[in-house]
Amino acid sequence: MACGTAMVSIWIVVVSLVVLGGKLLNWIWLRPRRLEKFLRQQGFAGNSYRILYGDLKDRTAMREQAISKPINFSDDIAPRVLPSVHHTIQKYGKNSFMWFGPIPRLHIMDPEQLKTVFTLINDIQKPVMNPLLKLFAGGVVNHEGAKWARHRKIINPAFHLQKLKVMVPAFYHSCYDMVSKWESMVFETGSCELDVMPYLQQMAADVISRTAFGSSYEKGEKIFKLQTELALLVNQPTMGIFIPGWRFLPTKTNKKMKEISKEITTLILGIINEREKSMSAGEAMHSDLLGILMESNLNEIGRHGNNKDTGMSIEDVINECKTFYIAGQETTATLLIWTMILLSSYSEWQDRARAEVFEIFGNKKPDFDGLSRLKV
Ligand code: HEM
Repeated sequence: MACGTAMVSIWIVVVSLVVLGGKLLNWIWLRPRRLEKFLRQQGFAGNSYRILYGDLKDRTAMREQAISKPINFSDDIAPRVLPSVHHTIQKYGKNSFMWFGPIPRLHIMDPEQLKTVFTLINDIQKPVMNPLLKLFAGGVVNHEGAKWARHRKIINPAFHLQKLKVMVPAFYHSCYDMVSKWESMVFETGSCELDVMPYLQQMAADVISRTAFGSSYEKGEKIFKLQTELALLVNQPTMGIFIPGWRFLPTKTNKKMKEISKEITTLILGIINEREKSMSAGEAMHSDLLGILMESNLNEIGRHGNNKDTGMSIEDVINECKTFYIAGQETTATLLIWTMILLSSYSEWQDRARAEVFEIFGNKKPDFDGLSRLKV
């Protein structure tokens, strides 16, 4: 009897190993080879699949090579910003693919094909995100279908002009702080060399902290620092191949990431709880992003007879706050830096922009109506 049970156990182990082995073989070899055949049949070209890594090693090497030396302002930016994509398109043409480990990524540059992709929203969905990325951007950017529509509807008021108008003083405050620092640096010497990038990144972070959490600005700043730290940690493993389950291992980085993520959640939750308390005490809703999100969420739930399933959970609200940080800071900072680069390269446009600012504002504080009259 004991011998029979042992045999059954051995069989279970053997069958499990065969099934797992089959899945692994399919994931790292059979599926990619099948996909490659289909892609080539459909007119796409690219490197042949190399087991597990695909083009990842080449991609890392090209990236390191590209950023190892500075470029001139007049140089093409594509080989610098996306060296492996640029290389693949140069080599294989506009309909090409690259291997992100066992997953092919397609480059589609024909506007008609792009239109098709965007209309087939149910068939062509967002790529499955590395779960680590959800630690700092688990909001609307990752959702699909009904969940995306529900969240999008709730966060939409945060982008309404009327709401943004109220935030202009916060923008002004952060800009003023930055420009004052620059002014004090040139105060004695009249001029100085300055790397503007860290200042603009800080300024964008500052704006988000103020506009997202308003009066809880200091906690917002703390959240922001933790988010940046988390993004750097998450960035390392997500650049390589995705190994399922790796994130659960108690490695030093994994433990640190979880610790930071928990701290961020606790901080945001603390602010939400404070808000909920003041809302039930009948205080006015805050006009910052979190306040707008909470109000819109309550309205949505209220519209459906207080059915909580029609709104967002507290966890969802926390994720949307995290997404705002990630989506809003680096993008805005980069846009401002690029604008300064262009204004420096084209001094005629710089003169025109400056003249217009003086014409509309003189020495007055910039306000919303004036800003909307700026043409240059
Ligand atoms: C110059 C500045 C910005 C640029 C270039 C930019 C660019 C983009 C792009 C390309 C997407 C689409 C991403 C995708 O679906 O894969 C996106 C989505 C998004 N952005 Fe921005 N963004 C900027 C500023 C901001 C700011 C300031 C915020 C909020 C504070 C923000 C919040 C979002 C959100 C929530 C989404 C997801 C929308 C959705 O999936 O429905 N962005 N942005």
